[in-house]
Amino acid sequence: MVEKNLESMNDLVSLCKRRGFIFQSSEIYGGLGSCWDYGPLGVELKNIVKNRWWKAMTYRDDVVGVDASILMHPTVWKASGHVDNFTDPLIDCKKCKSRFREDKIDVNAPCPNCGAQGEFTEAREFNLMFKTQMGAVEDTASTVFLRPETAQGIFVNFPNIQSTMRKKLPFGIAQIGKAFRNEITPGNFIFRTREFEQMEMQYFVKPGSQKEFMEMWKEERWKWHVSNGIRPEKLRYHPHGEGELAHYADAALDIEYEFPIGWGEMEGVHSRTDFDLKQHQEFSGKNLQYVDQLDGNKKYIPYVIETSVGCDRHLLAILCDAYRVENPGTEEERVVMRFAPHMAPIKAAVMPLMKKPELEEIATGLYKELQKYFKIEYDVAGSIGKRYRRQDEIGTPYCFTIDYDTIEDRTVTVRDRDSMSQERVSLDKIVDFMRDKIRD
Ligand code: GAP
Repeated sequence: MVEKNLESMNDLVSLCKRRGFIFQSSEIYGGLGSCWDYGPLGVELKNIVKNRWWKAMTYRDDVVGVDASILMHPTVWKASGHVDNFTDPLIDCKKCKSRFREDKIDVNAPCPNCGAQGEFTEAREFNLMFKTQMGAVEDTASTVFLRPETAQGIFVNFPNIQSTMRKKLPFGIAQIGKAFRNEITPGNFIFRTREFEQMEMQYFVKPGSQKEFMEMWKEERWKWHVSNGIRPEKLRYHPHGEGELAHYADAALDIEYEFPIGWGEMEGVHSRTDFDLKQHQEFSGKNLQYVDQLDGNKKYIPYVIETSVGCDRHLLAILCDAYRVENPGTEEERVVMRFAPHMAPIKAAVMPLMKKPELEEIATGLYKELQKYFKIEYDVAGSIGKRYRRQDEIGTPYCFTIDYDTIEDRTVTVRDRDSMSQERVSLDKIVDFMRDKIRD
């Protein structure tokens, strides 16, 4: 059998729309640039990703969670360096007014939008933070920012959490939440958007031990991506060289995925030194030192290892990795989303072979029983072949079909998404069958 991976992002965008994963935001008004809405299957998948991250990162002794507010005191962004440095160099085409990142295009070449030659403005620094007003009065004092990363909500809560949870180093604080960046060149579906969700963790360590914990988190995070069903051969580490390192980092690497648009960063693992806490200590005037009782009550600012993954970008990798076309261009062509069964948004479908009361009665009984434990669908519309194809496209690993034999012998047909093989299983064994198969 010939089988192809996803080759064009457009094929995925179209499947996501057709099958209820992801829609363009405000579509009936013509959409809003690079903003996307997660439909019923998309939000299900997203929640699976978030729950798995939360479990992997916080169901352990050394990491606790937080959910900080999106709007923060404006001085946070002064201290973090975002007000002064979170900028991209921007140039405009004088003719068509399109905007580009200077570092992403050749300024001596024609405008990529209208073809005008040598018509670009001088570069100016453009801050990527979204501004808004707080309260009824519009003046500069009431200007606040939508957070461009969740990390700062963790740093400013370091003293609260360390003292209330009585945490000793090394320990981490994890958070999932929205972040906003006024990206100049968003695009490639949900790869780069202006509103996205981050899953970040700051791991506070004793200065000098950062290399050891950087290694630990590098391994842990790789394993997590693989545990979500991503093929390891589609992943690689990209260590940052001297020129790529942020000024506050003493080491950094990305975990990259091979998207159809090429290799792209999915997660960053950064050794951020004591930069952020030091800055917040200076700007807030509050003492953010840690007292190390295991080292003669020595006082110091901890170093930080950060793991930062975009929820949407990881989800895009899951979708790209699952997408397969079998026997392309032939009568037997089949599009199938090969999600790992524990990642599939819909875990099983229950289908009476025909719309007949005696079959539907058994089918709805099974449906209700399975629904106590799993997200499943009931489908009675159309031919059984068409129903299977739809479930293949949304990646449902198992379909249970109730037919006239079921009435006689209390067994149903289980059809496997990947092999398309069918077997008969007793009705009273189906919950166990599912528990066994869906386990990760
Ligand atoms: N706190 C560190 C930080 O924010 P980053 O490399 O700027 O680091 C971390 O972002 C992750 O957030 C990226 O690896 C990516 O997965 C995701 N991300 C960043 N910008 C994004 C955007 N505009 N759209 C979607 N995801 C984005």
